[in-house]
Amino acid sequence: MVSQLTDAFARKFYYLRLSITDVCNFRCTYCLPDGYKPAGATNKSFLSLDEIRRVTRAFAALGTEKVRLTGGEPSLRRDFTDIIAAVRENAAIRQIAVTTNGYRLARDVKAWRDAGLTAVNVSVDSLDARQFHAITGQDKFRQVMAGIDAAFAAGFERVKVNTVLMRDVNHHQLDTFLAWIKPRRIQLRFIELMETGEGGSLFRDHHISGATIRDELLKRGWIHQLRNRADGPAQVFCHPDYEGEIGLIMPYDKDFCASCNRLRVSSSGKLHLCLFGDGGVSLRELLADDSQQGALIARIEEALTYKKQTHFLHDGNTGITQNLSYIGG
Ligand code: GTP
Ligand code: 5AD
Ligand code: SF4
Repeated sequence: MVSQLTDAFARKFYYLRLSITDVCNFRCTYCLPDGYKPAGATNKSFLSLDEIRRVTRAFAALGTEKVRLTGGEPSLRRDFTDIIAAVRENAAIRQIAVTTNGYRLARDVKAWRDAGLTAVNVSVDSLDARQFHAITGQDKFRQVMAGIDAAFAAGFERVKVNTVLMRDVNHHQLDTFLAWIKPRRIQLRFIELMETGEGGSLFRDHHISGATIRDELLKRGWIHQLRNRADGPAQVFCHPDYEGEIGLIMPYDKDFCASCNRLRVSSSGKLHLCLFGDGGVSLRELLADDSQQGALIARIEEALTYKKQTHFLHDGNTGITQNLSYIGG
């Protein structure tokens, strides 16, 4: 019998964001400005294929229908295609998504789809190749664009693109982004910059509120859609003249957490109830053997009883999360 994870505020959690590595080959200014550095002297190990199998099986038994593979850059793992196939073994998990920087997309997206991937989110913070290089530290704009084309060619009907809009950086490209999605089946997610432990000064200098972006969209004739279960915390906007749509992720909005539908497991096997402000509950010692599934499920259920109603960032607090590459955004 599949149960359904529900918290004390009647929110249902059918979506797992599973980080499979902290390693990233990009150095986005808002995430890893100095590039990936292993924590401490010893390189910590990330969840193995078998551990991933066990953790996703437990979540599937708890009603999880969607797994998003995140990182770091998930596709840097050599066994990435096998990981997709392992998650796919759970019949209850009907959606398997990846959030990627796009580096391996053109080369591998077909194989990922064949292994069972159902959705792709790609980060693109600028449509100007030079600025893309400046923000990500990688001169890979054309490669990432080719990757998005390859995703459509491989049969994905819609691709999501993540753009963190920053004042005096890429905000002036708003209309360029809108023109780009006019003929394309892209859901462009404008993501409000979040303050991380390492990103304080960037946040002070470049944060733009989600409300400002929402007003700019409304002024240009975009229409706010009614919330759909699949949207999670994103607010979706459509326009009659556009193939593409906009998803606005405004974590500082007061009602953002009311529609939270996701739990996170980090690459070292910690369950995080929120992106911000929680230390995580270790699951790893219960991932060593199939015989531990019952205890693993009980630990996840117990942990959820502690999930808070909202993150604590609304009152001028900063995030204690150092950067989002560890927990997978
Ligand atoms: P879907 O799974 O398709 O709904 O997309 P998503 O937006 O949840 O996934 P994606 O990994 O593309 O998320 C983009 C970014 O949005 C993340 O990296 C985070 O920065 C932000 N984000 C997603 N979910 C949350 C959340 O629950 N809380 C906060 N604060 N930010 C989130
Ligand atoms: N603020 C907002 N979004 C962030 N991401 C990472 N760090 C931040 C941050 N500080 C998101 C971006 C990127 C995804 C992988 O993680 O949306 O596309
Ligand atoms: Fe890498 Fe994604 Fe962080 Fe950029 S945002 S440095 S692509 S993990």
